Amino acid sequence: VDDNDMQFIKMHEHITDLFHHILIHTNEGEAALNYLIDRGFSSDILKREKIGLAPKMSSFTKNAILEKGFTEEAAYSAGLLSRNEENFSYYDRFVNRIMIPIKNHQDYVIGFTARSIDGSEPKYLNTPETKVFQKRHLLFNLSDARKSIRQQDEVILMEGHLDVLKVKSVNVENIVGLMGTALSDENINLLDRLASNVTLMFDGDNAGAQATMSIGEQLLKHGLNTFVIQLPRGMDPDEFIVENGEAAFRDLVKNEKRHYVHFLSEKLLNESMHNDLAYSQNINALIDALKYVNDSAIKSRLIMHISERYNIDKSQIESRLPVKNPVKR
Ligand code: GTP
Ligand code: MN
Ligand code: MN
Ligand code: MN
Ligand code: MN
Repeated sequence: VDDNDMQFIKMHEHITDLFHHILIHTNEGEAALNYLIDRGFSSDILKREKIGLAPKMSSFTKNAILEKGFTEEAAYSAGLLSRNEENFSYYDRFVNRIMIPIKNHQDYVIGFTARSIDGSEPKYLNTPETKVFQKRHLLFNLSDARKSIRQQDEVILMEGHLDVLKVKSVNVENIVGLMGTALSDENINLLDRLASNVTLMFDGDNAGAQATMSIGEQLLKHGLNTFVIQLPRGMDPDEFIVENGEAAFRDLVKNEKRHYVHFLSEKLLNESMHNDLAYSQNINALIDALKYVNDSAIKSRLIMHISERYNIDKSQIESRLPVKNPVKR
C-alpha cells in the first residue's frame, strides 16, 4: 500500500461514510432504507457493512471530494467520478444507487458495487478497474470471512453481493462473493491458499448452473475439493432465506453438499438417456473429472453413483482411471 493507494482508500472511506449517513439519517435515504429493510437487511447489517445511498444529484461525490481537499483527477483515477471526454469535465459515476462498499483483503474500502433502485440499467454498476480495485485479485467479503474459512477449511462461493450480506447475517461466515461472472487464475490460487474445500452456491437459474459447471471444473482441475450446494429452481441464497428461514438455510448448508462430479453427473444424465453419442461423451467427461478427485472415499462413492445412474459397470470406469491424480497436492 503506497501513498497513492492510501489516497484512494481515504477517498473511499470518506465517501462511504457520507453515503451511509444519507441512507440511514436523511429523508432522501428513506425510500432506499425501507426497500432494504423490507428485503430483510437489518439496520445492524446495514451499519456493520456501511451500506449507503448515492443521492440523486450529479455532483454530490464531486463536491464532497473537492471539499475534502482531493482533486477531481484523483477521484477519477479512483473510479469515483466519470469524465466527459469532449470537454474533460467530471461528474459523479454513482447516482441514485444503493452503495455496497467493497473492501480489499486488508479490510480497506477500495470500491463499490452499486445497485440501481429506479429500474435503470445496468442493475449493478461497479467501480471500474483502478490501481487498487482489480477484480481478478478480489473476492468480496474475504477480509471478514478469512478466519472462519481457515477454521472450517472450507470457503463457500456465491454470485451476489446481497446474497453474501444476507447469509452473513444468519451466522454463516465462511462466505465470499464472486466479483463478476468469471473466476480468475489469481482468484483460484488465492482460494487454494485459504482452504482445501471450495463449495459453490450459485443462483438456482440457468446462469447459475452454467457458472457452477465451468467454475467447478476450473477448481476441480486445479486440485481443490469442489462441492456444490444446489438451490431450488429460481432461488438465490437471499431468496431462499426469505422464503424458508434461517434454520432451513443452515440445514441446507450442513446437509446438502454434493461433490462437483455428482452435480455434473446429474446435469449430464438426461441428455445421455436416449442419445448414445452423448452417453459416450458424457461418460468420458465424467471419467476425466474423476481423475481429479483426491479423496478416495468420495471417489469410490462417485464411481458407485455413476455406475448406477448410467447403467455402466464400475470396472469400466475404474479401469480407465489413473492410479494418481494428475495434479500433485
Ligand atoms: P438482487 O437480489 O437485487 O441483487 O437481484 P438478483 O438476485 O436478480 O441479482 P442477480 O442474480 O442478477 O445478480 C447477482 C450478481 O450478479 C450481482 O451481485 C452482480 O455481481 C452481478 N450482476 C447482476 N446484474 C449485473 C449488471 O447489470 N452488471 C454487473 N456488472 N453485474 C451484475
Ligand atoms: Mn437477476
Ligand atoms: Mn442471477
Ligand atoms: Mn437476489
Ligand atoms: Mn440473484
